[in-house]
Amino acid sequence: MDAVSDAVDPVQANRRMWDERAPLHAASRFYDLEGFRAGRSSLQPFELEELGSVQGLDLVHLQCHIGLDTLSWARLGARVTGLDFSPAAIGIARGLAADTGLPARFEVAEVTRAPEVLGRAGFDIVYTGHGALIWLPDLDQWADAAVALLRPGGRLYLAEFHPLSQMLGDDAATVVASGFPDEPMVFDLPGSYAEPEAPTEENLSYEWTHNLGEVVSVLAARGMRIEFLRERDVIAWPRWHFLEKYGTTWPDGWWRTPPGRPRIPLSYTLMARLD
Ligand SMILES: C[S@@+](CC[C@H](N)C(=O)[O-])C[C@H]1O[C@@H](n2cnc3c(N)ncnc32)[C@H](O)[C@@H]1O
Repeated sequence: MDAVSDAVDPVQANRRMWDERAPLHAASRFYDLEGFRAGRSSLQPFELEELGSVQGLDLVHLQCHIGLDTLSWARLGARVTGLDFSPAAIGIARGLAADTGLPARFEVAEVTRAPEVLGRAGFDIVYTGHGALIWLPDLDQWADAAVALLRPGGRLYLAEFHPLSQMLGDDAATVVASGFPDEPMVFDLPGSYAEPEAPTEENLSYEWTHNLGEVVSVLAARGMRIEFLRERDVIAWPRWHFLEKYGTTWPDGWWRTPPGRPRIPLSYTLMARLD
């Protein structure tokens, strides 16, 4: 790193990057706000099945982005709160709640400040959706916040991308990145997964690998009982050309390893309970 980039606060750089991407995402086919307003859920069938009924439960969605998943849980009867550090993303989420008439609270805050902003021990479910943990430098601080939000008996439900997908190159055979990086990965890339061709200016971002062992351990260390950790060969975008589409959620579905090819762990879900 040179002297200029040494002075950059990685979390603030990420926030600027997300602030610029939030309106692009709101207008994208990937996020399909029109479909959402018309009643479509952004949640995956396995999420609905694993979390079960959320009717009447207090659910907080950490790093909620533009609020689609948060409001999808509201449609299923949860009393929802979404939190994200991007004012632009939260502005869109609030607008979407107003458009759809779904009751929801959305707050702007860094995830480690969640208990301070939302109060301690007020939620039955802490939910975190795909593509969240990689933006966090310190998983101990994240776990402190997530566990503090839960009532006794409450559950943390995490749906995430598998760190292995970051290690493999474009041929899916060569290991191109360490599975145990000492430093954050630094990117300076225009566009985003939802709008790859979009011209953007805030392109600097920092990502931190959190392996499954680390995730389980930070939760177990805080008295959380791990109920399951399930790995899957499915992902939200066509990471490799040989992946095949499946499912009907999102306009372009999700993607998975086709039959006959070695299956690659691409995502996982975890349920942990505060006894
Ligand atoms: C990839 S998005 C989440 C994706 C979400 N599952 C979805 O598809 O809508 C990651 C979100 O994390 C938020 N984020 C990143 N770092 C954060 C932090 N330290 N505190 C709070 N929010 C953060 C970003 O603003 C962004 O909205």
